[in-house]
Amino acid sequence: MAKQQNVFAFIDGDKKTRKEQARAVRALGLEAQRQLDESQPKKDFNAGFPKRRWSSGGQPRRHSGRGASILHDGGVKVAGHTAATAYPFCAGPNLGASGPPIGEDLYGGGLFCADPWDLYRRGIISGMAMLLFGTVGTGKSSLSKSWTTRLVQFGKKLAVASDLKGEWTEVIHRLKGKVIQIGPGLPTRLNPLEEGVRPSIDRMGNPLSDEGWAMMVRTRRLSILTTIVKILTGQDDLTPAENNALQEGVEGAIAIAERAGRMMIIPDVIEALKVAEKESPRKISDACEDLVMSLERLHTGDVGGMFDGLSTVTFESDVPAVSIDTAALRGATQTGRRVASACCGTWIEAMVTNPDGGQRLVVYEEGWDAVTSRADLERMVENWKLARDYGIFNILILHKVSDLNMAGDQGSQMAAMAKSLLADADIKVIYRQDAAALRATTEELELNDKERQMLKTLPKGTGLWRLGQKTFHVSNDLTDEEEPLFDTDQRLRASGDTGDDDAFVTVGDHRFTDWAAPGAGKDVA
Ligand SMILES: Nc1ncnc2c1ncn2[C@@H]1O[C@H](COP(=O)(O)OP(=O)(O)OP(=O)(O)O)[C@@H](O)[C@H]1O
Ligand SMILES: [Mg+2]
Repeated sequence: MAKQQNVFAFIDGDKKTRKEQARAVRALGLEAQRQLDESQPKKDFNAGFPKRRWSSGGQPRRHSGRGASILHDGGVKVAGHTAATAYPFCAGPNLGASGPPIGEDLYGGGLFCADPWDLYRRGIISGMAMLLFGTVGTGKSSLSKSWTTRLVQFGKKLAVASDLKGEWTEVIHRLKGKVIQIGPGLPTRLNPLEEGVRPSIDRMGNPLSDEGWAMMVRTRRLSILTTIVKILTGQDDLTPAENNALQEGVEGAIAIAERAGRMMIIPDVIEALKVAEKESPRKISDACEDLVMSLERLHTGDVGGMFDGLSTVTFESDVPAVSIDTAALRGATQTGRRVASACCGTWIEAMVTNPDGGQRLVVYEEGWDAVTSRADLERMVENWKLARDYGIFNILILHKVSDLNMAGDQGSQMAAMAKSLLADADIKVIYRQDAAALRATTEELELNDKERQMLKTLPKGTGLWRLGQKTFHVSNDLTDEEEPLFDTDQRLRASGDTGDDDAFVTVGDHRFTDWAAPGAGKDVA
């Protein structure tokens, strides 16, 4: 039986007949419905209501966004000035909330949070390095301390390569980290020829063989010895004979250390060079003699006793933070401090450049000193390129962009290396700049007029953050606990200085705290 509007019929017969009858009944039903609809007037459901005056999208109200013209993907192209006039209070979106808070995003009004590894993962930055510029006392160290200590609480690790002022010591202690204090008369010794932490895999991701590891260690040792000799002799490069002699020295020292059943130390290299001096042809023998004289300065010079024996400290990769406090070297010569910086840097980098070591921040305080030293600059350029592989994020602190020009004359290799640091750093933070430094800063970092004006007057603890192509205006807010911990003014007050010009030394157009100025102290060379 089929049922249709107002029509009842009995259907019978074979399949074909039933189908035909059902079709006829459905047609009858539809016809009956049509006649019924025609005979009855249509009901008006809106009767009695006011007539609708807008489309089914809803009433266009002031803030509803309805009825507004839709912006299509192509957008509207206008000059920055026009856009700023048309939309005066618009700001870009903030960075989101991953990572520890640094302070307030003063454009967007929200919290400014950043985690370099997360920024890399999101494609906002592609290089794992940050440059931090600002004139004396603008809060650069405070920013690096607050950001890194907060990141440590997010599970990252921290290494301060060379803390010339000793201002990180208390911070590292607070993080339950390890401070290595190096200086004349101090008991700590670091062996720059130490093997370092052996990674489980090589750069290609294959398990690291014993031969591969031995090669890595040999290369690293040759590299630091070359660096030390270059600093001590003031040469840009070693002669072929010196290179040859140094290789013989390292080979001989490996055997000496093996016989003694301990790690290789610099006196082993000196001993091996003395042997090679007697046995080698004249040219190499002369080179050996020169190298012995240079390296012996590590025994007798102003860094004597610090890098010429077995390390008295071990690197514990589980410790959340480690710093090398070189404040005790403040009276040393510039050459002495450079050797110390190279040895400390090599030691710490041998420990942290390890893909198994987790994510680690490496801070280079007083970067102006590092970029003027060829040895430090070469190491830094190399490490920055490999930072991603090793899970490292580098922070280099400078006074101004033109500090990078101090590396060398225009067109020189040193200048090119310093410029490559600028290119590799995808996070650039600029604190207040002197009028004299503004032009170079604006040009190198491609800042607009507004940003340039801001740089003159930025208050302490606020700066411009350039992340790739994005710019943020950010304040660094310190907690009540952090403020006294990061307070470097307190030292000036405690030492009786009022923070006026007496506390500083001017070298060229640079202003340094007195003992940190290049050339401070007497040279013993
Ligand atoms: N965001 C901030 N809030 C409050 N005080 C701050 C802030 N940043 C820095 N300070 C204070 O300003 C003083 C100088 O800061 P800091 O040592 O970080 O400057 P700096 O730029 O590293 O100086 P220098 O060029 O001498 O290394 C410190 O005493 C610190 O406590
Ligand atoms: Mg500082």
